[in-house]
Amino acid sequence: MRATIIGVGSCVPEKIVTNDDLAKSIETSDEWIRTRTGIKERRVADDGTSTSDLAIVAAEKALKSAKLSPEDLDLIIVGTTSPDYLFPSVACLLQNKLEAKKAAAFDVSAACSGFNYALTVASSFIENGTHKNILVVGADTLTKYLNWKDRGTCILFGDGAGAVVLTASDDGSGILSNWLKAEGRLGDRLIMPGGGSRDPEQKNTRFITMDGKEVFKFAVRVLEESIYESLKAANLSVKDIDLLIPHQANDRIINHVIKKMGLPKEKVYVNLQKYGNTSAASIPLALDEAVSDGKINKGNIVVLAGFGAGLTAGANVIKWR
Ligand code: ACO
Repeated sequence: MRATIIGVGSCVPEKIVTNDDLAKSIETSDEWIRTRTGIKERRVADDGTSTSDLAIVAAEKALKSAKLSPEDLDLIIVGTTSPDYLFPSVACLLQNKLEAKKAAAFDVSAACSGFNYALTVASSFIENGTHKNILVVGADTLTKYLNWKDRGTCILFGDGAGAVVLTASDDGSGILSNWLKAEGRLGDRLIMPGGGSRDPEQKNTRFITMDGKEVFKFAVRVLEESIYESLKAANLSVKDIDLLIPHQANDRIINHVIKKMGLPKEKVYVNLQKYGNTSAASIPLALDEAVSDGKINKGNIVVLAGFGAGLTAGANVIKWR
């Protein structure tokens, strides 16, 4: 039995913030942001919208496209690092809102690799036969943790959610391999210092702080490694890829890696120009758009490759149903 994707969905907030909008309040320009990152605009959740509000819409769309009802779900896993509360988890909030009475629910914390980690856990549950139908969501509202005066970070991030429904299948399709990695020694290069049990009163900053250059170097190194290693585990090679969906952080990271690997641009899905880096939502949001755009067909080999805070990385190789 393999875990195969039978439904996808996504959701972004309505409010668009362009590079020109940012240039009104910080010293930057549309030209600088576009050439250094590829980002043109991002979506920003309003004060009343939390991560679960975006996640529920993505989840409902994924269930509809899977033609399953919430009662069919055995498990809900949400990849997020911006949960509504420290507890209960976003997954439990979804379980309640969806009325998915049979489903167990928990969150996975691996920042921008959160969807790859959550998908890996879900596919293991299905492969070992204990669970049949699983909802996997990647959702984040990291703009709530941005210092809008720090031009090194506030230009990069946006909000969103993406979801897939997995089911057990023996038709040859599904998740062929998973690969995960963590380099905790580099954890302080991308960190939200305040608000955790080390600093519950947020005496330190509650904003994302990042060493952009170090994260860039890590990203370039592990994106390539994750693609090679996940393909190797599936007995495939780069020439077998029909579509690569990398974490949508920066097009310079993506372009550097695909050039080195000899992967043509037509085989890589990029939508970061519209959304910026939506953290755990970035890959399922891009997956949903790629499916809607008709870029993924039955039998295609699709590689999802993410990297992020932790520092973490992960990749999944999928044969599309
Ligand atoms: N507008 C204009 N100038 C800027 C801006 C800005 N927004 N930001 C920085 N600069 C300036 C700097 O001050 C610096 O000026 P100086 O030379 O006078 O000191 C100059 O531009 C170059 O700055 P660098 O930091 O060297 O710029 P770099 O080319 O490294 O780009 C960036 C910065 C875009 C952040 C890049 O390092 C990057 O993308 N890193 C990866 C970040 C990433 O992907 N993080 C997400 C990880 S996923 C997760 O889990 C959250």
